[in-house]
Formats: sequence, C-alpha cells, structure tokens
Amino acid sequence: MKALVLSGGAGTRLRPLTHTSAKQLVPVANKPILFYGLEAIADAGITDVALVVGDTEDEIRRAVGDGAAFGLDVTYLRQEAPLGLAHAVLIARDFLGDDDFVMFLGDNFVFGGITDSVEEFRKARPDAQLLLTRVPDPSAFGVAELDDQGRLVGLEEKPARPRSDLAVVGVFLFGPAVHDAVRAVRPSARGELEITDAVQWLLDGGRDVRTTVITGYWKDTGNAADILDVNRRLLDLLEYRVDGDVDEASEIVGRVRIDAGATVRGSRIVGPAVIGAGTLVQDSYIGPSTSIAEDCVIRDSEIEFSIVLRESSFDSIRRVEGSLVGRNVHVSLSPRVPTAHRFVIGDHGRVQLSS
Ligand code: DAU
Repeated sequence: MKALVLSGGAGTRLRPLTHTSAKQLVPVANKPILFYGLEAIADAGITDVALVVGDTEDEIRRAVGDGAAFGLDVTYLRQEAPLGLAHAVLIARDFLGDDDFVMFLGDNFVFGGITDSVEEFRKARPDAQLLLTRVPDPSAFGVAELDDQGRLVGLEEKPARPRSDLAVVGVFLFGPAVHDAVRAVRPSARGELEITDAVQWLLDGGRDVRTTVITGYWKDTGNAADILDVNRRLLDLLEYRVDGDVDEASEIVGRVRIDAGATVRGSRIVGPAVIGAGTLVQDSYIGPSTSIAEDCVIRDSEIEFSIVLRESSFDSIRRVEGSLVGRNVHVSLSPRVPTAHRFVIGDHGRVQLSS
C-alpha cells in the first residue's frame, strides 16, 4: 500500500501566513501540521509516499527531505497548478501503479491516526473507502448522503444546501479503479477536478464504495480558529519536560515543555504550553494552550491561547489572547507621545485592539 499526500494548493484562507510559506507547514504545538500526517502514515505501516507539491515545493522539500526522519521513502510530484484533488491522483498515476493507496490531505489533522481505517480497508479491499464525520457547517466540505442502511447514495462538493451533516474527511482509501474515475470527471464550477465527483463516478458505475463515520477529533486546518483549536488539543497531550534554563524567580505550572536552549526569567508559565529553543521569556505570563516557537523574545507581556511563530517578539504587551502570530513579527508599545497605534501589517492581516 502507498500514500499520496497533498501539499500543493494556495492556502488563501490562511493568509497572510501563507503568503510566504506553505499552509501545510504552519506549526501546531511547534511542529508543522504536515508532519503529524506523515507520522500517522508511518504508524499505519506505509513507507512508500508521494508528496504532491506546487509553488511551495522548495520549502516542503527542505522540511521533509527524503522522508527518512519519518521512516518514509518520499517522492515529490510537482503539480503545475492546484487543479483539484482528483487531478493530483491523475498526475500520480505512474507512482501509484495498480497499488492500493491512501490519499491524505496535508492540511488535515486526524486525532488518533489512520491505522484503524487502513486496516479496515486492507481487509475488505473495496474500490474506495471514505471517512466521514458530523460537522455543524457541512457546506464548507464534501458532503455524503447515506441511506437507511448507512450505504452511500451520493456526494456533493461544498453544497449550498447540504443533504446531511456528514462531511468528507481528508483521508481517502482507494484501489486502482479510481484511476478510471479521475480520467472520467470534468472540472467543477470552481474549475477543479473534484475527488468527490470521482467517487460519485465509481458509485454510479456500481463499484464498491464504503464509508466509515468517525467520531474522533478531525480538523481541516483551513483557518486561524481551526489551527488554534488543533494546537489546544495537541497541547492537552503534552508531558512536563523542562530542558531549558529556568531561573528561581520563575514558576512553571502544569504540563509545560521548555525546549533546550530556551531561557525563562522571572516569569509564570501555566500549561499546557510549549516554549521553543532559543526563545527568551522574561517578566512575562504565558498561559494555557500557547505555543511559542523558536528564537522568540517575550518580555513584560502576557500571552494565552495563542501561537507565536519563530523569531517574533512581544514587548510590554498585555494581554494577548486567541492569536496566531506569524514569523518575525514584532509587537511593542509605542515609545513616545502621542500615544497611538502604529502598524506595519501584511495583506489580509487582522488586528483587534482592546482600547
Ligand atoms: O478537508 C476535507 C475536504 O477537503 C473535503 O471535505 C472536500 O470534499 C475536499 O474537496 C477537500 O476540500 P478543500 O476545499 O478543503 O480542499 P483544499 O483546496 O483545502 O485542499 C486540500 C489539500 O490538498 C491542501 O493541503 C492543498 C492540497 N491540494 C489541493 C488542491 C485543490 C493540492 O495539493 N492540489 C490541489 O490541486
């Protein structure tokens, strides 16, 4: 069995972070979201992986390399444009051959991995197996309609009026029949070759298409709120570990990870929280569900339920909450009168001030 991991696409909903980097590499709990997917694939016993990449190919290659760090053998497949999930299968034809495979969307997060689903598929070997989950906002996803016996009767991509609340999760298991399906479908109204149309084609052709409704936590990390939520869930699993340098005037409460090379002075850190290597936290409060990445400086500030990416700084700012802060971002008090807000904020940034 092989794996096809989709790491192309544009990531418009995560701008401005994704103006400069791939959305699949946005870190949660200080590790790129894509890495959790690669680990889940390795855990399921799959080693032969192709990563579909687009404009951010170089960055993804630098992060993942040949896959050896994950116990994987990674091949890169360049997709000239994000022409759809079914298009990604189309360009992977030679790599996949006639083998069964799991297609994993690189920006999806599946708590508890994919091992059970892969095992189920390996036993039954249907033409396709979809994972579904109930969501409050189905029109943002592919939506499945099941009959009374729980059999799949139809699929729709982001319908305005969804026929159910069962969203298609970004983990698909396929046998070789899917190759005929992706060749047969035509671009949708949004100009993409939809994988949901390909699966519908299999269904219409009387092929064996199965579904499993999962109840575990799943997120398509499409926007900032989703990323913060995944971060919170992951940090809940954290174990206390302090390898960094913490002085006596500091207090560390609960499950906190302070990586080697981090420095904490006169501060209170209440977990779950993680502080990356090379970061200085001084005279500050870091609250629950917060990930501070590498080489940041947090001075005289309070931050909670947030993600701060590397090389950023906060100086004399309280209090920051529910924020997703990119790389090399610097937030400080304006140094002199008149007291005023001064911004250099990239396109698509969002700022909420408390006064
Ligand atoms: O997340 C689950 C949803 O994923 C499903 O419910 C939908 O049925 C499915 O179409 C897909 O919808 P999205 O609109 O969320 O897909 P998105 O464009 O975000 O792409 C998902 C991943 O695949 C993302 O990591 C980018 C990558 N991608 C996407 C396209 C369109 C590619 O590598 N190539 C592409 O052509």
